[in-house]
Amino acid sequence: MSCTLSQLSVIRGDTLKPAPQINWMQDKTSHDAFRRIQTLLRQVEDRLEALLEDGGETPPKLLSAMKHALLGGGKRFRPLLFILTVPKGVYEEAALEIGCALEMVHTASLILDDLPCMDDADLRRDKPTTHKIFGQATAILAAISLLTRGMNILASLDGVPGDTRGKLVAVLSRAVGHTGLAAGQEVDLTQAAEMSMGVEQKNWLKTGIFFSAMAEMASILSDRCEEEAAGLSELAFHIGSAFQALDDLLDATAGPGSIGKDIGKDVGKSTMITDRGEVATRLTYLCHLQSANAALARCGVEEEPIALMLQSIHEMAFGKGVPL
Ligand code: IPE
Ligand code: IPE
Ligand code: MG
Ligand code: MG
Ligand code: MG
Repeated sequence: MSCTLSQLSVIRGDTLKPAPQINWMQDKTSHDAFRRIQTLLRQVEDRLEALLEDGGETPPKLLSAMKHALLGGGKRFRPLLFILTVPKGVYEEAALEIGCALEMVHTASLILDDLPCMDDADLRRDKPTTHKIFGQATAILAAISLLTRGMNILASLDGVPGDTRGKLVAVLSRAVGHTGLAAGQEVDLTQAAEMSMGVEQKNWLKTGIFFSAMAEMASILSDRCEEEAAGLSELAFHIGSAFQALDDLLDATAGPGSIGKDIGKDVGKSTMITDRGEVATRLTYLCHLQSANAALARCGVEEEPIALMLQSIHEMAFGKGVPL
């Protein structure tokens, strides 16, 4: 891989300067792609809120815990990415619903990940973690409720044929279950030595496989040609891999309070940093980010907003002025 000088400074670590996670896409108001993302972001926020309306049936503390975890925080990277990978005009309403379902399932995984028996984290999305406010029992129930609400949304999508809905549920449930995200978390937390799994594979299961499922779901919903489906799956592979490599990097190097969640939670675990060191982790992240950008043109997606989102994640970690 050839690098520019400023990319080399990312690899060396000179420029790592995480900014707060909130407002992760500021200062681009004149940009069409930025406006498109802001519009989608508002739709996602409004719809997430509406989807938690329950007609008064949920015990108030449980509902408050679900709202605490889900609303008013998070980059919403997964719903935005999903919506932008479904061609405009194709099942637009369903794409928004699916994006929200993905965010619910992702948020459920964060609530569980933060529990004392897992990463024992105090801060998430710039707020106290769900169990810190509502207690562990309610936090676990909120996670189960968000997970099942997400799956329920997929299973009951308006105007989408039953076999398509079934495929969407099958793909997402496989990705977060015992051979996917849950498996990655198990290996992460217990080392699961008998599996002798490399860190790249573990990160793939924890984080990457979710992005891969999103690509498959976008293909199912929009009936893509083989070439576009392959492009989407390549895009997802590189975004998912870049995402967890950067996350490992930030856990080890970001300043306290700078990324809206605890840092130093990977101490004692096998991560990309402990496995191959900081410099190689930076290189891995950059390679995947560049490959994701290269794949964009091959998947029949809204390229500019997705490229802007990738750039914004990059700037959030490394500051402005460092090209991808
Ligand atoms: C955090 O995901 C957990 C990982 C899989 C690395 P995000 O970085 O997308 O967190 P939010 O959704 O913005 O809070
Ligand atoms: C967990 O990875 C990713 C999930 C599946 C929730 P981390 O434990 O590194 O995620 P953060 O750093 O707490 O967001
Ligand atoms: Mg974890
Ligand atoms: Mg964690
Ligand atoms: Mg982490």
